[in-house]
Amino acid sequence: MKVPLAQPIMTEDMVQAAANALRNERLTMGDSMVKFEEDFARMCGVSHAVSVNSGTAAIQLALLAAGVTAKDVVLTSSMSFVATTNAYVAFGGIPAFADVIESEYTLDPAKIALGPEVKAIMPVHLYGHPSRMDEINELAKDKGVVVVEDACQAHGAMYKGRRVGAIGDIGCFSFYPTKNMHVGGDGGMMTTDDADIADMVRKLRHCGRKTHNEHDVIGYTARLNSANAAVGIEQLKMLETWNEKRRSVARKYHEQLKDIDGLHLPPQPTAEVVPVYHLFTVRTTRRDELRKHLDGASIQTGVHYEIPIHLQPIYRELYGFKEGMLPVTERLCKEVVTLPMFPDMAGEQVDYVCEKIKEFYG
Ligand SMILES: Cc1ncc(COP(=O)(O)O)c(C=O)c1O
Repeated sequence: MKVPLAQPIMTEDMVQAAANALRNERLTMGDSMVKFEEDFARMCGVSHAVSVNSGTAAIQLALLAAGVTAKDVVLTSSMSFVATTNAYVAFGGIPAFADVIESEYTLDPAKIALGPEVKAIMPVHLYGHPSRMDEINELAKDKGVVVVEDACQAHGAMYKGRRVGAIGDIGCFSFYPTKNMHVGGDGGMMTTDDADIADMVRKLRHCGRKTHNEHDVIGYTARLNSANAAVGIEQLKMLETWNEKRRSVARKYHEQLKDIDGLHLPPQPTAEVVPVYHLFTVRTTRRDELRKHLDGASIQTGVHYEIPIHLQPIYRELYGFKEGMLPVTERLCKEVVTLPMFPDMAGEQVDYVCEKIKEFYG
């Protein structure tokens, strides 16, 4: 048996939706884009969703729209994909980090220090697990700091009865093909209840246009293509079903792996926090041996992420970041391993992965 790490879904309906948009709509800023935004806003429970061409663009334009400029500091988690900070370092924003909670992989509110230079805080709902938003919002409110959720891995996750992307001031999503939903290529979405921020992101993604011929801000070309939006509409219809299937796979992993000494499993859903298991990431000090064993059984695994952002070569070079700054993050990055996880993962595939893990641990 072969088990891939992830398996993006593209049904005939989705292909047809894209073809229909390609034949009948404006190729950018078409009807599908408008409908996708309305549907996504409804799913999140926000007043505005603005589509863009990647998750990185969503973060970049959201921060710019919130008034973050070059030389402003944005505090986030280093235990994330490098795009989280690339999104603002690219325009001169300065990254600052706080360490994470070991068992949840998300920002530890107790470790967050908000100096006057910090203009925004960006919790990352890593692997689909919501961050501790109440505490983070509270800290931010005290200091007048904007909260931008990096929800790029957490479409549909719930925190205390609300969807991620609707809990901070702004939410940012990625539709990269392996995410819980995609658009048949790159894409992203920004969500907010703030009409001014939504208007500014609409303008920034569309060359800074005030009217067709007038440009009153320096903007970007960051629109979502109509064909991609059309795929997104169909994918979004399936999101809740697919997330439930992911949770069911996670339950099976938990049942079968819970008693293995030295293997730490991700948090399970509670009445308040409902994750969406974008990735099912476990921890072990024997990561490389375990990966080799699973690879030998044709089971694909991943590491998210081997190098924390602050220790990436370019971040060391630009800011002089060093080992020891974020002890929990740095240790986790040496121990995490991602097991196969996708909605249509068969029960036998989960059993097979668990059997091989048990075999490894003897
Ligand atoms: C946590 C996180 N932030 C940001 C991004 C950037 O999204 P994109 O690849 O769509 O630019 C990703 C996705 O790859 C991500 O996983």
